[in-house]
Amino acid sequence: MSRPSSDYDPVEVSPLHADEVEAMRDAALEAIDAAASLDDLKQVRIEHAGDRSPLALANREIGALPPQARKNAGMRVGQARKAVGARLAERAAALQEQQDARILLEESVDVTLPVDREPRGARHPLTTIQERVCDVFVAMGWEVAEGPEVEAEWLNFDALNLGPDHPARTMQDTFWLTPAKAALVLRTHTSPVQARTMLERTPPIYVICPGRTFRTDALDATHTPVFHQVEGLAIDEGLSMAHLKGTLDHFATEMFGYGITTRFRPSYFPFTEPSAEVDLICFVCRDVPGEVETCRTCRGEGWIEWGGCGVVNPRVLIACGVDPERYTGFAFGMGLDRTLMVRYDLEDMRDMVEGDVRFTVPFGLEL
Ligand code: PHE
Repeated sequence: MSRPSSDYDPVEVSPLHADEVEAMRDAALEAIDAAASLDDLKQVRIEHAGDRSPLALANREIGALPPQARKNAGMRVGQARKAVGARLAERAAALQEQQDARILLEESVDVTLPVDREPRGARHPLTTIQERVCDVFVAMGWEVAEGPEVEAEWLNFDALNLGPDHPARTMQDTFWLTPAKAALVLRTHTSPVQARTMLERTPPIYVICPGRTFRTDALDATHTPVFHQVEGLAIDEGLSMAHLKGTLDHFATEMFGYGITTRFRPSYFPFTEPSAEVDLICFVCRDVPGEVETCRTCRGEGWIEWGGCGVVNPRVLIACGVDPERYTGFAFGMGLDRTLMVRYDLEDMRDMVEGDVRFTVPFGLEL
């Protein structure tokens, strides 16, 4: 029998005895089974299968064994590592599956639950009606024109044949801006946009001008100092009152429905000659005998006042640089607030300006 070599150290090779290797393997398997999550398992993998794990260290020691011991030790360690590797893979798959199932459950969305979010508000019906009006005219090839709300006195009055001494000038209760010598007003109607358009462009002109207008009325159920008008202006060769009537009939039908036409009553505006008031046949009773008498919308009149109109006064054409020998034109203007009140049977104008969303919501959440 040969003596044990003097440098053979039994302590170093002891981990490679069968029971030691088994103990390492069992400790690893136990830890793997105990891992409750993929994170735990990651730690277990480092401790029991990583480069510094007992089995990896044992594997490294195989080379230091006497040759005749290497084969068995190599087999034992190899099998143990394989078993650990297989169990790791198995446990990882099981934990992954558990995690997926939990996420599916936790993150599932019940689409039948009531929505819990801030109400989105609604567009004001005046905005919507203004856009509808513009759409009607854009569809006929007209353009939308806008002007400033703070307007030059000259454009708001003088250019429109409302000279300083004109009696009609006091009919429009005007907000004047200070200092007076600046000659600025909050526009009392959208008509100065007509003047601006004629000064800026050459005919033919077909424009529709919606906008905010101001007069010194106190706010009550039927008046508001800030209101909205829409004004139309057409300047071309050969335009007459007949074109005006046809345009307004089409406008009325588009806004209020088939069969709703207009009638003219003689009137006076300094900027048009001849001038007329436009009435709309009542879109509820349609002036039908037997129904008109009790109609609340037109109060038994059969017709609803809608706005003013006329053939552009040649004096306005001259003031705005348009040759009245060659061109004629027509203009019309109506209040959008009133149109809205009539259309939707609204009783109090204050509802329109107070900005309460409970007023706007029933008109539809058009966004
Ligand atoms: N500007 C007029 C008003 O505010 C309406 C109008 C416009 C009348 C155009 C005739 C032609 O009352």
